[in-house]
Amino acid sequence: MRLLKTALVAGALAVLSVTTIASAYAQDTKIGFIVKQPEEPWFQDEWKFADQAAKEKGFTLVKIGAEDGEKLMSAIDNLGAQGAQGFIVCTPDVKLGPGIVAKAAANNLKLMTVDDRLVGADGKALEGVPHMGISATKIGEAVGQAIVDEMKARGWKADEVGAIRVSYDQLPTAVDRVEGAISVLKANGFKAENIFDAPQAKTDTEAALNAATVVLNAHADIKKWVSFGLNDEAVLGAVRASESVGIPADGMIGVGIGGADSAINEFKKPAATGFVGTVIISPKRHGYETALNMYDWVANNKEPEKLILTSGALAKRDDYQKVRQGLGIE
Ligand code: GLA
Repeated sequence: MRLLKTALVAGALAVLSVTTIASAYAQDTKIGFIVKQPEEPWFQDEWKFADQAAKEKGFTLVKIGAEDGEKLMSAIDNLGAQGAQGFIVCTPDVKLGPGIVAKAAANNLKLMTVDDRLVGADGKALEGVPHMGISATKIGEAVGQAIVDEMKARGWKADEVGAIRVSYDQLPTAVDRVEGAISVLKANGFKAENIFDAPQAKTDTEAALNAATVVLNAHADIKKWVSFGLNDEAVLGAVRASESVGIPADGMIGVGIGGADSAINEFKKPAATGFVGTVIISPKRHGYETALNMYDWVANNKEPEKLILTSGALAKRDDYQKVRQGLGIE
């Protein structure tokens, strides 16, 4: 009997100490969220929703902008030194993949990627690293379809139209997005020779504007244009370029991907521009859900899914508020 009592007390004590440790551990959870372009509204939205997860679960979120590889590597060391347990990253360069994996391991940090998936030396995705990205080809196809529909509405014939493919081909998701759009254009009579590559040096509006200007100047005979790229910034660059060479708003059909402030500010302008629509993707899933998944991994040892691909929904000037509400991001 005495033995049984001792065993019961010992058991209760064991349970008590485990819970104490667990709750202390949860309170100390620190998670990094590193993004390649902190000035871009998409990434600010991701951070905003990740903050929401941190508040709900009571962990600390450390937000870091890392525009190049060097900054990224020191950010990871920094997280390690601060006692973080894991981080989510959208890397400035996917080819840094193996280096990022090694750095994370050296700092004993769990690693998840968002938006841009890491690749190995052979150019193939590092499938062991849990990733959340958009379903790039499908979303690109939705862009292409929106362009084709608008061409029809304007009575444009495919052979009189030029297409600007704002490209960033070192990033696989960017290639999938623009190729998705091109497949729909081609299926609707667009000829390959009327699609012009505008390679951007960086994934921002200025770089896209510079790249698109070269294309427009080289084909000044074409008066009707469509444009697409990896995000809203890319398409906004092409639209700004068309304006600067004197193409009116009804001579350009640009459809972006994103739906953050970059696109919404364009829709709020009193007069319509050549930026006709955007496929809105979900910064809530990419920010809130990734942060929550990392928290579950760190605090509850629940491993995240290896690959989650999110969807998008087309929005235009007249319905973007409704579409955003539907996605829970208004
Ligand atoms: C890439 C782009 C961003 C955004 C995300 C979405 O990282 O650079 O602008 O489109 O993909 O996953």
